[in-house]
Amino acid sequence: MTISQANQYVEKNKHKVNTMYRLMFHAMPELGWMNDPNGLVFYRGEYHIFYQHHPYDSVWGPMHWGHMVSKDLVRFTYLPIALAPDQEDETGCFSGGAIVDQKDKDQLHVFYTKHFDKNGLIIERQGLATTTDGIHFEKNSKPIIDVDLIAPHGLIQDARDPFPFYENGFYYVILGSKDEHNQGKFLIFRSKDLKTFTFHDALIDPIMKNSMAECPDLVKFEHDDVFLFSRIDFTKQKNRNISEYFIGRFDIENKKYKYEYQGLIDSGHHFYAPQTLKDDQNRVIMIGWMEIWGDPNVTHDLGHEWQGALTFPRELKIVDHQLLQYPIEEIISYRKASRKLEKGIILEKCLDLEIEDTDTHFSIKFSDPKDQENYFEIGYEDKKFYIDGNQLKSNALSRKESRNSYDSIKLRILIDTSSFEIFINDGIEAFTSRVYMESIHFMIVTNQNLKGTVHQLVIGGDESNV
Ligand code: FRU
Repeated sequence: MTISQANQYVEKNKHKVNTMYRLMFHAMPELGWMNDPNGLVFYRGEYHIFYQHHPYDSVWGPMHWGHMVSKDLVRFTYLPIALAPDQEDETGCFSGGAIVDQKDKDQLHVFYTKHFDKNGLIIERQGLATTTDGIHFEKNSKPIIDVDLIAPHGLIQDARDPFPFYENGFYYVILGSKDEHNQGKFLIFRSKDLKTFTFHDALIDPIMKNSMAECPDLVKFEHDDVFLFSRIDFTKQKNRNISEYFIGRFDIENKKYKYEYQGLIDSGHHFYAPQTLKDDQNRVIMIGWMEIWGDPNVTHDLGHEWQGALTFPRELKIVDHQLLQYPIEEIISYRKASRKLEKGIILEKCLDLEIEDTDTHFSIKFSDPKDQENYFEIGYEDKKFYIDGNQLKSNALSRKESRNSYDSIKLRILIDTSSFEIFINDGIEAFTSRVYMESIHFMIVTNQNLKGTVHQLVIGGDESNV
């Protein structure tokens, strides 16, 4: 499977995509399947987003790395596919991260998992590929972290998703893994020259018991560090994929770790495998996969020839040792018309909704104008915020409640064609869910005094994502 075959296939077949549920200000594959964001990086003045991609079908398959760039993370331009499983020891290029070379800022390195699965034999090694033009990548001929380095510490069939960072003269790579007792672990390797890596340490936490650790990411703030990770919880039959974080101090060089707080990153239905980047303004921006394993592939099942999207980018901040996540401010310049929140209005496909602070119960039904029994509900009662998609006809979603109790709440809601992203009280909690309705009509069911503003978002232009 080569890159040029994949690019030709996309070029030839992308017109087949049905645009009905395509998003306007979220990253999606041009054609076929997308899962995790990969290699998020600000490189030579632009944001680069890579992603797990199967161009040949709208279901998961031999993984490639799709690639897009953006100047503002609202509108994206597709670039040629960056990696294809074209080596002998690869049947898929699994997730990983990117890092700009310390000495030569024009060189970008991506670390990825060389996943091999043939005749029942599964092996995961880590590979490195480098670009100097931001488009074409040259793969190292040999793995940079091979089975001999992994085997003493984790299972060689489950060691993936390299997260690279640089500190005090060393390139570090953190991998997600587990041992034969299903103890999830993060394995840390390091190298001075990107050629020879040695094992450095392992992060093992009781929370990772009966789990497979995936997709690590570490962010250093001034006073706190945040370690983001995903895991497969083997004790569960359903909803096994969870993305969480630790706040604390992770002094990797000196192997000193202080865990202070642990939490769920997103309380909605569709959020997994987030990564972060730091940009030229030193903002920490997080993007996740806006789907989850095990849920119906709605657009695939409809024959729309595409499946999967990424969340809208969120800026992460630590305030009073708490993690806040909030949509990046760039979206505000796409607000074109604003009006007051009112009962029964028909909503446009793309909206930025603000609901003012209230301590009174309310519920809002977002319903289909042609079928008012088809709706997605959000609300606030007994100090809890909730979302409830049990009445949705296309993809029924369970009721979910906020983890925290709130004496009063205000909301910010981004709605894009087939997604809802809801932020409570400046981002102390977030709910992300995919909702499929032909058009959305909107009713306030209780609390007629609820105040808010509906901003229509107009993305448009040549680079619009549809
Ligand atoms: C997470 C994940 C990663 C893996 C990739 C494969 O969603 O399972 O651990 O690298 O997806 O596509």
